[in-house]
Amino acid sequence: MFVSVAGSAARVPTRWRKEVERILITDDAIAQRIREMSREIARDFKGREMVVVSLLNGTVMFLADLIRNLSLPLRLDFIGVSSYGAGTESGDLVFTKELRLDVRGRDVLLVDDILDTGKTLFRVLAKLKALKPRRIKTCVLLNKAARRVEKVEADYVGFEIPDFFVIGYGLDFAERYRNLPFVGVLHSHVYKQVAAKPASARKPAASPRS
Ligand code: PRP
Repeated sequence: MFVSVAGSAARVPTRWRKEVERILITDDAIAQRIREMSREIARDFKGREMVVVSLLNGTVMFLADLIRNLSLPLRLDFIGVSSYGAGTESGDLVFTKELRLDVRGRDVLLVDDILDTGKTLFRVLAKLKALKPRRIKTCVLLNKAARRVEKVEADYVGFEIPDFFVIGYGLDFAERYRNLPFVGVLHSHVYKQVAAKPASARKPAASPRS
């Protein structure tokens, strides 16, 4: 499903208007698309107990809504991974939590919030494949194909989005805005302000995805 450059006509709540330029995907549109994706996933995984592996921290909202729509037997685990970069590009990947469940011979659904350069999914997929699961399917809420660096695609994609700096519904900028119920476009003055500060004054996770 492609999201238009103009985004939705919904108005940004007053509280967020200084920081959020516009709503790209409303909470209703997200909920509807997740129901569709869940049906597709349930069809593909029918008859198998799946292991859902979700990447921290950005998947918090997407994962919760996705799995409550999946009426299949499943086990859930997390991998902590973060791109700690200063400036405006993703930096090196740091693993902050390792998988605990044994996925050997299992059907794995790998969940991430956004597929951007593909560096995260590429690295995590390599790590998971080494654990010899029966199969791995990948599922992302957002796909920003224009930014791809690694050769990787997701099996289930919620929305194809243009190259905007998106926040909300789990996605952050410098750990903020994850609690917004919609996916919005961050005003450029917000991330330019942070990027302009000396590196020592920035939080490590302040790594805009565009
Ligand atoms: C974000 C996002 C994806 C990754 C996508 O994670 O959650 O995992 O970037 O970018 P890529 O395709 O360019 O690798 P981030 O490192 O910002 O951590 P977070 O999930 O804690 O926000």
